[in-house]
Amino acid sequence: MAKVAVLGFGVVGGGTVELIYKNKEKIEKSAGKSIDVKYILDLRDFPDSPFADKVVHDINVILNDDEVTLVAECMGGVNPAYDFVKGCLERGKSVATSNKELVAQKGAELLKIAKEKNCNFFFEASVGGAIPIIRPMHQCLAANEITSVSGILNGTTNFILTKMINENMKFDDALKMAQQLGYAEADPTADVEGLDACRKICILSSLAFGKHVYPDSVHTEGITKITPEDIEYAENWGGSVKLIGTVKKLDNGKILPLVAPHFVCSENPISSVSDVFNAVMVCGDAIDRAMFYGRGAGKFPTASAVVADIIDAAKADGTSISQVWEDAGTQDFIDDYSNCRTRMYIRLSGADKSAVEKAFEDVEFLARENAPSGEVAFVTNEMRECDIDEKLSAVGGEVLGKIRLLEV
Ligand code: HSE
Repeated sequence: MAKVAVLGFGVVGGGTVELIYKNKEKIEKSAGKSIDVKYILDLRDFPDSPFADKVVHDINVILNDDEVTLVAECMGGVNPAYDFVKGCLERGKSVATSNKELVAQKGAELLKIAKEKNCNFFFEASVGGAIPIIRPMHQCLAANEITSVSGILNGTTNFILTKMINENMKFDDALKMAQQLGYAEADPTADVEGLDACRKICILSSLAFGKHVYPDSVHTEGITKITPEDIEYAENWGGSVKLIGTVKKLDNGKILPLVAPHFVCSENPISSVSDVFNAVMVCGDAIDRAMFYGRGAGKFPTASAVVADIIDAAKADGTSISQVWEDAGTQDFIDDYSNCRTRMYIRLSGADKSAVEKAFEDVEFLARENAPSGEVAFVTNEMRECDIDEKLSAVGGEVLGKIRLLEV
């Protein structure tokens, strides 16, 4: 018999409790033991819930109950989740979390505690919701040297871009629709400015390369500056605009994690991932490439991953099988994005093609219907970002759009 405490009775916490009871027989068969939720921690009371009698308000009730060996943390945010999770791990209770902010900020430390205390810190739900990606990278792809991980890691922004692409909506209108449908929060900053995707690429980078990558070290751009004109040029170029979280191993031994909108060519399966779906492509020296696709958010898709972690933790019982990555004490294994090479789409006003050709030499000019005179759009060859910026200042004109191309 394993007793579970669920921290946070919001959308994901509620889904976790419901799923445990909905599929109890199947879940217990997988775990090899009976599983029961003993406590639900929340500030609020839920008098109308069938689980009202399990609700407690004090974390100490859970910390001091030795019968509770498994904890699902679905609160979100670093505080107080960090103190609560740390307290659980220090007492040998395994934790499954959906909290990407917590893992991105404190993952190395919490994994170390779990290892020392012979318990587990699992976070399959923190990246890609329902998509199995953490465990496949840790286990199934363990024999590979990972060379890159790239994908669509945020459902809200993918929904907004899909509306801009398919229905010619402007960013503000698409965002409003995402809010009305409950995808985007009232304060959409974390999604639209790329912070949520940044946390997820930090987790995938740390997992792939064994050293903790902190969010502050990742150059992050959101989608707020993307316009219908950029979308039209992307289509005419032969692809679409997607917010991509990516990390790759460079020839100099460093890594480059990055979150930014990218032109993705239509041959790349990532370009056809639409609405709130996520997709992650992992490249390794043995596998070539493997792609993972599914719902990146939502009550039951996310709960599916949390409960799977609870099952694994129940099976592991007293053995630490979590992955471990170290806090390297420095972030100097991460290269400066401006020194890295990329191809770039650029849209200018008040410029002329001959100045562009003179500065950039070999470029691919793009066209769109009804472009105003003086608008010039083109795609550069591969070069360092700092060199692109230098050449752009020689061209003159106003930069209206600047979007990287995703390597095939
Ligand atoms: N806000 C996130 C998204 C939720 O839109 O993908 C899941 O992490």
